[in-house]
Amino acid sequence: MGQIAQQQGGETGTAIDPAAPLLLFDSGVGGLSVLDEVRRLLPQAPVIYAADTAGLPYGSKSEAEIAARVSGLLGRMTERLHPRLVCIACNTASTIALAAVRDVLEVPIVGTVPAIKPAAALTQTGVIGLLGTAQTIRQAYVDRLEAEFASGKTLLRHAAPELVGAAEATLRGEPVDPAVFARAAAGLLGQPGGAAIDTVVLACTHFPLVSAQLAQAFGPGVRFVDGAAGIARRIAFLTHGQAFARREPDLALFTARPGGPEPWRALEPSLAARGLKRITVF
Ligand code: DGL
Repeated sequence: MGQIAQQQGGETGTAIDPAAPLLLFDSGVGGLSVLDEVRRLLPQAPVIYAADTAGLPYGSKSEAEIAARVSGLLGRMTERLHPRLVCIACNTASTIALAAVRDVLEVPIVGTVPAIKPAAALTQTGVIGLLGTAQTIRQAYVDRLEAEFASGKTLLRHAAPELVGAAEATLRGEPVDPAVFARAAAGLLGQPGGAAIDTVVLACTHFPLVSAQLAQAFGPGVRFVDGAAGIARRIAFLTHGQAFARREPDLALFTARPGGPEPWRALEPSLAARGLKRITVF
């Protein structure tokens, strides 16, 4: 403890600067649900939170566009910001681009995987719901997780892109029509066999940010599972023994189109509440 550890998964033998941040990346505020868990385990870790606001939402973009955008941005961010580890705190980006990003970056990369395995262990009825973006729910990555961890169970999937905007609005302090959450619940419960769902995988990092509203829409007897705590544990494992020293308040970065909207202004209280007290445009 207290020593400067050797980098894992990168250039072995290179001492890590204790101020080197963890870089958490998402298309918007969704990755803050992951940050909340990282704070619990590693409160002393310096963090840069990067939101690709100019590219939000990812869920309706093509796979090629997401892969190119995420690899390009993370390449540039890693060069400029020297993180000790990158976390793609976004299911859509991870299920599509994780392998490509790992191929080009030398720092350890932690991805976000839909929490099908823990959901399969928890369900009593054997019927699991999965809410994600349109891109995530149709990824072969999800098919593989289903085959590996949920064979013998029923996995019903529903794309709920409206919840992404709902989470963004909620963190900006704006009211959201409860019908948005009711539609997401109906999209799963209304499917053949859906009435037996007792466990729902929140396979988009935005969705845990509105879990209270979703709980109300789904009603009692349905529990939610997401990957945030597991991701935080993985980050703690990969940085075990490394020294952390926060030399300035943690930073939030937003991509922006010239002359485009500046959503981070209304997000300032939600960001500050999570220790992100500096905001800049990338
Ligand atoms: N937060 C992202 C995820 O986990 C997706 C939101 C978007 O559509 O950009 O999938």
